[in-house]
Amino acid sequence: MKGLEPDRSTMPGADTTARANVNVALIKYWGKRDTALNLPSTGSISLTLDGLWVKASCAFGDGSVDECLIDGSGEAGDDATRVLRFVDLIRNEAGIAARARVNTTSGVPKGIGLASSAAAFASLAVAVSRAAGMRLEPPALSALARRGSGSAARSIFGGFVEWHRGERPDGRDSIAEPILPPAGWDVRMVVAVTSSARKAISSSEGMQRAASSPLYPPWVESAERDLAEARRAIAARDLEALGLVAEHSALKMHAIGLAARPPLVYWLGATVECIHRVWALREEGTRGYVTIDAGPQVKVLCEPADAPTIAGALRDVAGVERVLTCAPGRGAEVRG
Ligand code: PMV
Repeated sequence: MKGLEPDRSTMPGADTTARANVNVALIKYWGKRDTALNLPSTGSISLTLDGLWVKASCAFGDGSVDECLIDGSGEAGDDATRVLRFVDLIRNEAGIAARARVNTTSGVPKGIGLASSAAAFASLAVAVSRAAGMRLEPPALSALARRGSGSAARSIFGGFVEWHRGERPDGRDSIAEPILPPAGWDVRMVVAVTSSARKAISSSEGMQRAASSPLYPPWVESAERDLAEARRAIAARDLEALGLVAEHSALKMHAIGLAARPPLVYWLGATVECIHRVWALREEGTRGYVTIDAGPQVKVLCEPADAPTIAGALRDVAGVERVLTCAPGRGAEVRG
């Protein structure tokens, strides 16, 4: 992989800690052109969110087995297996054999049903590669993070970010790049939590199911138009234009699931109620635009001044457990 040369100045053994924020896609990634490499069928555009972070630490040493602690628990399970598979990948790239000690801590409040895998694999990409003696530039870190979780490619950067589909079979050109830094446009994302249960159908499984939908080919075919519209809206700081295309992308993604066999519906009743509440507010002049990922939570893009009104309205929707408001956040960084 380009840029993955070991850095001789950092010897394996050093403990490194990195931190990354979650991101929410405005133009969604939904479907892979290569499952093993996590290469997307389309490009996507996201906003990295402040305050919802994961911290990862890694050291390579002479232990006899890899150790993995997730939020203080060393239990074996799917999450630990996924983390250690990612460590293995980096170890191979770095050409080292030492065992790893990895520790991740999530600053995303527990039970809010917001997947933190994007932040987790972005912080792991930074921490593990540095601990392995590599000093990677952000594009190479983005390609690496993508291997852990597709959307993690975007959490390497702050603010508005585009992840390119790429054309190459090896994925070298499927990397994210920043469009606007966090200070470039002060918007808010209001998140309404309608269920804190772990989702039943993972995004990977959902994407596989999407391939059976007659709406999948038009989704891929229309992606470039949505991306171009979002890029133009971000460049012009045009909230309405960005919000409308973001809403369209999210609803189109969920429509794929409705038409899949077997069908896939991530929404709950409260999800639908939140959509109507946001649209009713819009009729009254408070501009909020809905986006929804592979779960029942509703995220609303808006101006900072409108965030309290939107948050208050969503708090009143029956079935909404909690509402939080996030500003644009920074990209992944090395820190203690
Ligand atoms: O990165 P994954 O495999 O968790 O997939 C993320 C999929 C969505 O969140 C629904 C869309 C996106 O672009 O983040």
